[in-house]
Formats: sequence, structure tokens, C-alpha cells
Amino acid sequence: MAAQTMEQLVSLSKRRGFIFPGSAIYGGLQGTYDYGPLGVELKNNLKLAWWRANVWEREDMEGIDASILMNKLTWRYSGHEETFVDPMVDCKGCKMRWRADQIAGKCPSCGSAELTEPRPFNLMFKTQVGPVPDPESFSYLRPETAQGIFLNFKHVLDSTSRKLPFGIAQMGKSFRNEITPRNFIFRVREFEQMEIEFFVKPGEDEAWHQKWVEDRINWWLSVGLSKDNLVPYHQKANELAHYAKATVDLLYRFPHGLEELEGIANRTDYDLGSHSKDQGSLGLKARVAPNSHSTEKLTYFDAETKQHVVPFVIEPSAGVDRGVLAVLSEAYAEEQVKPAPADRLKPVEEALGTFLKSVSRNEKLTADAKNALLAEGERIEGALGERLASITGLLSMPGAEGIEVAKKLRGQVDPVVDEFYRTVLHFKPRLAPIKVAVLPLKKNHPGIVDVAKGIRRRLQSSGSMRVVYDDTGAIGKLYRRQDEIGTPFCVTVDFDTLGDGKDASTKDTVTVRHRDSMAQERVAISELEGYLREKMG
Ligand code: GAP
Repeated sequence: MAAQTMEQLVSLSKRRGFIFPGSAIYGGLQGTYDYGPLGVELKNNLKLAWWRANVWEREDMEGIDASILMNKLTWRYSGHEETFVDPMVDCKGCKMRWRADQIAGKCPSCGSAELTEPRPFNLMFKTQVGPVPDPESFSYLRPETAQGIFLNFKHVLDSTSRKLPFGIAQMGKSFRNEITPRNFIFRVREFEQMEIEFFVKPGEDEAWHQKWVEDRINWWLSVGLSKDNLVPYHQKANELAHYAKATVDLLYRFPHGLEELEGIANRTDYDLGSHSKDQGSLGLKARVAPNSHSTEKLTYFDAETKQHVVPFVIEPSAGVDRGVLAVLSEAYAEEQVKPAPADRLKPVEEALGTFLKSVSRNEKLTADAKNALLAEGERIEGALGERLASITGLLSMPGAEGIEVAKKLRGQVDPVVDEFYRTVLHFKPRLAPIKVAVLPLKKNHPGIVDVAKGIRRRLQSSGSMRVVYDDTGAIGKLYRRQDEIGTPFCVTVDFDTLGDGKDASTKDTVTVRHRDSMAQERVAISELEGYLREKMG
């Protein structure tokens, strides 16, 4: 099971510290999000998995980390100044601004058809460079990391003596002044990309393009996405970016629909050609604007043919934030641990009905908040037995707190959820923010606490896993809390560990509880680290 609605993910992310809206205490800044304590771990784990697979484990790749700020000529010759634009219209009634191609002639906010003529709007953020406000002293925040790779092509080639084919990988922030940021971290104004520019001999580009599409699909499957939710889409000629000969998008079934997660483009010799001097001598296949500023020919000397060639480029370009959203969505499940009897469900059903009536009558809620609450409430009502755990998310949606009967609903639902349901993130263990939670059965028992803290210290100092100690509740509750953040293993220290139980053979062993199966087994403390490492894969 994956997330059914974006609300489930937004609510869990905020509640448990994965992702928060940016600048919230000042009313927010649209299109920005902050990663919290668990979110930063998840994001770093995803990036590390990408770097491992694409840089460390390949023999044909180098990595770089280029500046976000680049000479503004970069963006002239990359084509972004001229082509990185969307046609915009303003609504004359409510003054909202929209992308002309997304609204079918009517303002989605107020319904007015009184719109201005479409005008081009450049998506790059302009920024002043240096202390003097001279109109020429500006640059842009990069809208893609790729250009940092193209401008360093010669540096990498000369410093590593690489032969074609080889690639350069980079991860980092990109910025786009998106007109309508939306769908949580799917479309934002500040985001991260994981990009590869893979340089090949002209003529070998199409075979490499196909190979990269397969590699990238396999990598997304390896981090937990399911085949059913990942769909390759071959862009049509009129959809291609200005630099591309062919592009295959990997679409993912996000909660809001099937949308782009990664694009794998054949950029031909467009980029190295555009940024080169003396272009007339290079025999370029792509049409590029004349470059009167570059000081380099970005070519490769082919020792076999004794000729300088401009390599073709295959570019797998993925969004980190969209990756995090896809992984979160795929991992998310609300599961019944055991069936709740009808007499326990009935009062929750009634309280939910009263809550939704109260929402629909409430005049203080914005239309958006009201619609979202009603839609989610009705979805839950439609299959209460299965979806009851979603009420926790419903109650943390915007506007829910202000509804008078919310407290009563929470009072009804919390004990039933605690007893019969769990929300769980089935992350691949290597992506999980926390790998192991060490739990003392009794938080005030010095013997148990000593052993548990010692285990946490030892596992943590192994350097291969993030380990936490948690004594903030009863064991059942602690298991649920760790399930909800995707911790694959809980290690419980109890009286048997101390040799105080009935069975003497359990001395110096602990219970390892598995997140997915909820199965428990006894493992000797001396073997614990090796055992966990093996299960972690
Ligand atoms: N260098 C090629 C390039 O930037 P793109 O299709 O514009 O191509 C690549 O972007 C990836 O970056 C997308 O597939 C998406 O995952 C991510 N991305 C692009 N714009 C984004 C945005 N506004 N918010 C979040 N991710 C974005």
C-alpha cells in the first residue's frame, strides 16, 4: 500500500519532523520547505544511495560540486535566458498570476475570463553580485546543476585523463521562480537535483541513452519504488527542451497523479558546443548560438582517430525532493494490527460524523481548508474500518484544531488507533532515518537502563547506523512510534536480559522486533551488531 492522499504525507511529515513549511512563523514563503530531524536523514540517505550507485560503484564516473552562482554568460549560452520562460497571464479581477497553458482561459481563483495577454516570464532568480548596484553586476541562482558540469568539462578531463565514455555527477541546490508551486515538495522554488552528464562518442549516444533509462529505472526500484508506480514516458517532438534530441521521463504515481520524477535526455553536442569558442571548426550537429566570449574549445581528443570531437551528452536528471516524496509515498501504509470490534468503532463513527457536520457549517474556515477537510473526512468515512488511523492526520490538517468537536473526536479515536492500528513507513532499511531504537522495558530500573544505554552507545559508535534510545512510553506505544517513522529494528532490554527471568538461557540476550512483520526474536548482545548489519543489507 502507498499513500492515498498528499494530506497523509503532509500531516505525518509535520507531526513527526520530516518536512515543515518554510518560514512558517512569518506566514510562510510559498514554494519553500524545510527538512526536519528525520527528513534530513532520509534525504541524505537517498542522496548517498545515488552517489554510491553512480559514482563509487561505477568505473566511468567522477563527481564534482560546482558553485550555485556562475558567470551570467553561462545562462546566455546555455539558452536559459532566452528559452527558460513560461507564458503568463494576470487575472484583471483578483490580480492572481497564472501559467496561460494551465488554466483554459479562466482564472482558477475567481473564475473571471478577464485575463491579460500572455507575457513571457523567466523562471530564473536574478541576484546582485558584489556591493555596487551596477545594472551589469548580476547573475542568476542556477536553475539546474548541469551547467556547472559543462563548464568544468575540460578541468575534469585534464585532471583525470578520462577516456570516452565517462560521466560527471553532481548533486546540489537549484532554484526556479515557479509561478504556481504546489503539491507539497513536488514543485517548489528551491530544490535539489542529482544530475549526471555522461559524455559519449557521437553515434554511440542512442544506445547509451537506452542503457541509462534502464539503469535509472533499476536504481529507483532498488530504493523501494514499485514497478507498477514507475512509468517511462517518451517525450513527443513538441515537448522536448531546446537542447534535447530525445527525452524519456520517468513518471511516478504520486498521490496527486502520475508525474515526472526524473528526465533522461539526449542533449547531443548542444551544451559543450554552445559553451565553446571557434564553433565553426567543431562540426557540431546541434544548432547553437555564436559564442563570442568563451576562451575554450570543449572538445575531446580521440587518440584512435587522431581527431578532436565534441562528445554527445546523455543526462539523467532527478529531483531529490521528488525522490523523497516518492519514497515516502511508496513506504506509507496504515495497517490494522487486529480487527477493532464494532462497539469500539461506533462511537468514533458518530464523532467523525459530528465533526464533519461542524466543518461544513463553520464560517471561519477558508474554502480550501474546508474542502480539504471534508474530502479527507469523507474518504475515511467511506471505509472506516480500514482507514480509521487516518483520523489522526485529519485532525492535524489546517483548520481542524479550531473545530469545537475536534477534541471529542480525538478522545474517541486515539485509544482505538493505539490498540488496533498503526501507521508505518516501510522504507528500505538503508534509507530509514533511524536504523535501530533501543528501548528499556522499565525506564527507572538501573540494571536495564545501563545495559540499554551501553547497547545504544556501542551500536552508534560502529559508525554504520543511526541509533536512538527511547524511554518515553510503554513498549507497545514505543513500537508504534518507531513504525511511524520507519525504524526497521527495535531492540528491547528486559528482565530476561539481566538473567532475572524464568529462563536462564536468555541472560545477555535482547528482543529484536522487526518493523514490517512485527515478529520478535531473541538475539545475544554479543552478536547484535553483526545480526543487524546483515539484516540491513
Ligand atoms: N538539467 C535538466 C533539467 O534540469 P528538468 O526536467 O527541468 O531538467 C530535472 O529537471 C528534474 O528536477 C525533474 O525531473 C524534477 O525531478 C526536478 N525538478 C525540476 N523542477 C522542480 C521543481 N520546481 N521542484 C522540485 N523538483 C523539480
